[in-house]
Amino acid sequence: MKCRTCGSKAVINMRQHKLALCKPHFLEWLPAQTERFIKKYEMFTRYEKVLVAVSGGKDSLSLWNILIKLGYQADGIYISLGIGEEGGYSDLSRQLCEDFSLDRNQQLHIVDVKKEFGETIPQFAQRTRRGKNKACSVCGLTKRHVMNQVAQKFGYDVLVTGHNLDDEAAVLFGNTLHWAGEFMLRQAPVLPATPGLTRKGKPLCRFYEKEMAAYAILSDIDYIYEECPYSIGSTSIYYKHQMNLLEHDNPGEKSHFYLRFLRAKDNGLFAPPEIIKQDLHECSNCGQPTSGKDVCSFCRMLEQGNEHLERSQVN
Ligand code: AMP
Ligand code: FES
Ligand code: ZN
Ligand code: ZN
Repeated sequence: MKCRTCGSKAVINMRQHKLALCKPHFLEWLPAQTERFIKKYEMFTRYEKVLVAVSGGKDSLSLWNILIKLGYQADGIYISLGIGEEGGYSDLSRQLCEDFSLDRNQQLHIVDVKKEFGETIPQFAQRTRRGKNKACSVCGLTKRHVMNQVAQKFGYDVLVTGHNLDDEAAVLFGNTLHWAGEFMLRQAPVLPATPGLTRKGKPLCRFYEKEMAAYAILSDIDYIYEECPYSIGSTSIYYKHQMNLLEHDNPGEKSHFYLRFLRAKDNGLFAPPEIIKQDLHECSNCGQPTSGKDVCSFCRMLEQGNEHLERSQVN
């Protein structure tokens, strides 16, 4: 297989794009495409301050790397969730993010959930009864809360995450199976800012997971290979697997599924724009925007946790 640009030996063959490239041309192509998506979806400009949420994984560290290379003003945020033993999942991913920021001389905000809110994610999950994937739902809620809080506090214009096409297609697949229209309305490459909520962007949402893995490896980015222990057996991994079966028989299927959804949404398939507007007000506890009655779901989770704690201490 030969590189389409220069004819030398290709290191990657992307059947979905009918494109094979050598290492230098692949390492040029991926950031150039990222730049194209940032502009196409009007995510941010070089005059704006970007906050990149980094988990220590290949996607988010690659994203940070690309944004720095493209000349954006991009700082990082790492949220230490307290998952795994000492030196385990959370400690290792934190170390990788810190090393990355030091090597490149970039600012990294670190928020330790235990220090900030008293408990680690596994401890929270144990006390609050939150269904089957309880650690993941507590974790998702916490990450969204903390990321927005930091973005607001330091005046970032946009918060970006490393979600790739496989992540987006799997979420869309789950939402479609359940006709979760409300969630579908809010699934987009960019979500505009609203009072109290920083704009959000996903510059990698058009790249296949294996493209991102190839980019991280070929760029010598040191990332954590291990998956979060709570993700094992999760529905999102199951949906990714199903999407890969479709993709295997029909290269490009995953991408078409996502892109046709975006087009259908733009054409108003899900709701006329005025219905999309949500009635938000400030949480009486933390001040972040919420559609809940009084306190936001994050603060409710904290309260709920404390109720359980009090009850278990009484018992
Ligand atoms: P995940 O939900 O683990 O698939 O992660 C999706 C995206 O959320 C990643 O690409 C990161 O941008 C961000 N993210 C996940 N975990 C963390 C974390 N501990 N700290 C900061 N950002 C994170
Ligand atoms: Fe949050 Fe796995 S990363 S539960
Ligand atoms: Zn080439
Ligand atoms: Zn709150």
